[in-house]
Amino acid sequence: MQLAVQQALRGGPATYQNPQVGAVLVKGGRVISQGYHHRFGGNHAEVDCLTKVSPQQAVGATLYVTLEPCCHVGKTPACSQRIIQAGIKHVVIGQLDPHKIVAGKGRDDLLAYGVEVTQESGAAIENLNRHYNWFYRHQRPWITLKTAQTLDGKINDQVGKRSRLSQEAAQRDSQQLRSHHHAILVGERTLTTDDPQLTVRLRALAHPPVRLVTVNRSAVAVGKQIVTDPSAETWLLARQADAADSSFAANVHVVVGDWTPAAIADLCAQHGWQSLLVEGGSHLQAQFVASGLVEAWVSYISPQLWGGTALPAVADSKLAPTSLQFEPVTVTQLGADLRLVAYRTGVA
Ligand SMILES: NC(=O)c1ccc[n+]([C@@H]2O[C@H](COP(=O)([O-])OP(=O)(O)OC[C@H]3O[C@@H](n4cnc5c(N)ncnc54)[C@H](OP(=O)(O)O)[C@@H]3O)[C@@H](O)[C@H]2O)c1
Repeated sequence: MQLAVQQALRGGPATYQNPQVGAVLVKGGRVISQGYHHRFGGNHAEVDCLTKVSPQQAVGATLYVTLEPCCHVGKTPACSQRIIQAGIKHVVIGQLDPHKIVAGKGRDDLLAYGVEVTQESGAAIENLNRHYNWFYRHQRPWITLKTAQTLDGKINDQVGKRSRLSQEAAQRDSQQLRSHHHAILVGERTLTTDDPQLTVRLRALAHPPVRLVTVNRSAVAVGKQIVTDPSAETWLLARQADAADSSFAANVHVVVGDWTPAAIADLCAQHGWQSLLVEGGSHLQAQFVASGLVEAWVSYISPQLWGGTALPAVADSKLAPTSLQFEPVTVTQLGADLRLVAYRTGVA
């Protein structure tokens, strides 16, 4: 199963909106084939694995697969039937698929045709598709809050001007973090101060993260990179309608409403965006902390102190204090910076 997990990881963000899945075929105590889900719309891991052996080789073999095989005909034929037709004797599943279209039905299909099915689960399996699992178990996105901050928890030293904090290694890592989320959100003053691109520049993605910004009116986004750069979709979550609403290119959507964190999570759920990365600023983070809608926290910590009036990572004097507990916490040195990752107690 460890080998199947390694295979699954080769898919990476390219498999979205599908999960990462790996498969290994074993016969006579030997690994005879390995495969994985390469990209959304491509062969599933089981099929990728089975196509690399002859029909005779597959008969009587054991298939290790990190996720329950699907049982429906979608972009590709049902994997459970492909396994049955191949004469596989035993299937070892890493986890059941929480997506309601499968949810135990793939396992039951195999059992109904006399295939032995067992389960070998563990943290490595669960972590493969943390966002996917969360989304289909809770019907809302996994939400990560991210900051680049100083040792004393500050994210900006001068109002109205962008501060540079992270060095190259941390910047590259934060691009990886983006690539593993399906939507990225910032607040209005981050838009006006930083004019961020909110894109993944490490590699081309078939489904780059969707860019979301909370704004009072859409006019504030005119000329900003998130609307002039066509490489990803942008959603302006506006409080009020504006004459500028209809002035944007086709990849820019304006939606008017009361954009609380819960409403933003609902929007993500409606569109199937399984994970949301909230990148600041300080007031937007405070709203998410107050709402309790936080599964993970990631800080890139630069060894500096800004003290005084510099902007804290989370602040809104209108909001009551909140207490959220996080564990486990890991700390990694990235060049001159530290990366701290913490998961909400009970979610990881
Ligand atoms: N180092 C980092 O990691 C990092 C990351 C991001 C940003 N920053 C810095 O953080 C600063 C900006 O942070 P900030 O706290 O001042 O602002 P912010 O969190 O980016 O934006 C929050 C503001 O957005 C407004 N807003 C507009 N429309 C809204 C809507 N529909 N729903 C909710 N809020 C809406 C709110 O204005 P109202 O007051 O009218 O409610 C709120 O005060 C910038 O200096 C930026 O450079 C640093």
